[in-house]
Amino acid sequence: MYRSHTCGELRAAEIGKEVTLAGWVQKTRDKGFMVWVDLRDRYGVTQLIFDEERTPKEMVAKARELGREFVIQITGKVIERESKNNQMPTGEIEILVTNLEILNTSLTPPFTIEDKTDGGDDLRMKYRYLDIRRNPVRENLIFRHKVSMEVRKYLSEKGFVDVETPYLIKSTPEGARDFVVPSRMNEGQFYALPQSPQTFKQLLMVGGMDKYFQIVKCFRDEDLRADRQPEFTQIDCEMAFVEQEGILNTFEGLTRHLLKEIKGVAVEKFPRMTYDEAMQTYGNDKPDIRFGMEFGELNDVAQHKEFNVFNDAELVVGIAVPGGANYTRKEIDALIDWVKRPQVGALGLVYVKCNEDGSYKSSVDKFYNEEDFVKWAEKTGAKPGDLICVLSGETNKVRAQLSALRMELANRLGLRKPNEFAPLWVVDFPLLEWDEETKRYHAMHHPFTSPKPGQMELLKTHPGDVKANAYDLVLNGNEIGGGSIRIHDRKVQEQMFDYLGFTPDEAQAQFGFLMEAFQYGAPPHGGIAFGLDRLVSILGGQETIRDFIAFPKNNSGRDVMIDAPATIDDSQLKELHLKLDL
Ligand code: AMO
Repeated sequence: MYRSHTCGELRAAEIGKEVTLAGWVQKTRDKGFMVWVDLRDRYGVTQLIFDEERTPKEMVAKARELGREFVIQITGKVIERESKNNQMPTGEIEILVTNLEILNTSLTPPFTIEDKTDGGDDLRMKYRYLDIRRNPVRENLIFRHKVSMEVRKYLSEKGFVDVETPYLIKSTPEGARDFVVPSRMNEGQFYALPQSPQTFKQLLMVGGMDKYFQIVKCFRDEDLRADRQPEFTQIDCEMAFVEQEGILNTFEGLTRHLLKEIKGVAVEKFPRMTYDEAMQTYGNDKPDIRFGMEFGELNDVAQHKEFNVFNDAELVVGIAVPGGANYTRKEIDALIDWVKRPQVGALGLVYVKCNEDGSYKSSVDKFYNEEDFVKWAEKTGAKPGDLICVLSGETNKVRAQLSALRMELANRLGLRKPNEFAPLWVVDFPLLEWDEETKRYHAMHHPFTSPKPGQMELLKTHPGDVKANAYDLVLNGNEIGGGSIRIHDRKVQEQMFDYLGFTPDEAQAQFGFLMEAFQYGAPPHGGIAFGLDRLVSILGGQETIRDFIAFPKNNSGRDVMIDAPATIDDSQLKELHLKLDL
């Protein structure tokens, strides 16, 4: 038996007991006649004491050889501590050691295994197994486990069946590049790793599976950010004989259950907002609605004077920054510089200070008067003491810029409280999205999404106006899930591929299997997929998903611990038909 107890569980009630513990040496303190060791495992830290008077001599000598992160096993007696530590759950006791076994030695770790470590990101990733010994990382992984267990429990109770789908498949059109795997047995041919199990879950519906879910790895070769990894995990779900309302209610139920069970937060019915509304009010299709600062469109009240920057703009739009009227000139200049950074791309920023005494001071006093500013304040909801920030230009660009400013200011003002949760559904997404690069429409969600009833005809004349039966679940300014009601009719699907610029041959080659299946009694169906990494990190009060993934990749898509990707040798290349025999 390696241990009778863990390092986190002994309390005053166990005083007098003989126990065996195993774990890692966190710290040793040698006071000459006594040696103290902090012993750590997954469950906590327990203090050990080696006392020259009460511990066998050879054991005290051995204790003096211990280094950080040595793996040891001890036996001893639980005794009351002379100086108690009420910061630690085990702080009332210590173990008077009678026997010490060194199970393994350790090199000195490259960073301290403490809550606040001295290790930088790169070093911690290279030695991730040491990082995982630290409380915050371990707690995040256990937190993730709890969320995924709750998901399984909830969905299984609701009759969803967990079905595994293959990883060696062919391209799924989720809008990213594929990771491909060369086939040894089929020369010159490649599998693609799934960007999602989209087509398979639809085939499961054709197969009569009715309610499916899977917690599944997805692979997308795209530019990485704090909320994106090249391999990530979805809670992937699909239902047959269901309409949008049924999906929204079911998965609102799941999200509400998770908020209640994991965070103890009760949320009433989730608000719903159309995509158009979200864009107009927040400049963003995943708005953070924990705080206001809603957009006020100012065209009507700002385009009647000689200020041509505004007169020539498609959209003039502002937000009220709470308490911003007392920003100094320097602080405002810094804000202007911030919006002009290439990442945001605004040409400038007009501001109006709404002073506490009811007066106004702006960067455009030359053109506008108090009467104008009263109207601007009304439209943006600015109160005395606030600062109105106004941007202008081409609608889509300005909305994105002002949305970036809104989020930045909310972060600075501490308005994005990690333990407040404000979920919402964004519905009625456009079916198609114009791509400047290819000068073509693309499916905004994916090509299996159905248009809103009765809008198929509009596709021919006004493709950009067609709305989809698609929805996103947004939590605290993050898209944590998205889905749609699917096309289940072969003809409609063929037509959709045609609108999206696929030739019939291309459509057949890539998705013939799905269209064929639709001919054998495909039921109406729809679904959703949650990003588990995102969901977990937001529930955990953070936005960097890497912190909730055991072995994540860095921003260049590398696993620096195992050093992947890596080259492979010539013989392997040849076997895979990737290198010709010379
Ligand atoms: P979608 O592409 O919207 O939909 O993906 C669903 C959810 O997965 C998460 N996500 C990611 N998380 C981390 N890293 C990434 N690179 C990444 N990409 C996406 C997001 C997103 O909301 N098959 C459809 C779902 C459906 O229609 O049912 C799909 O994959 O949280």
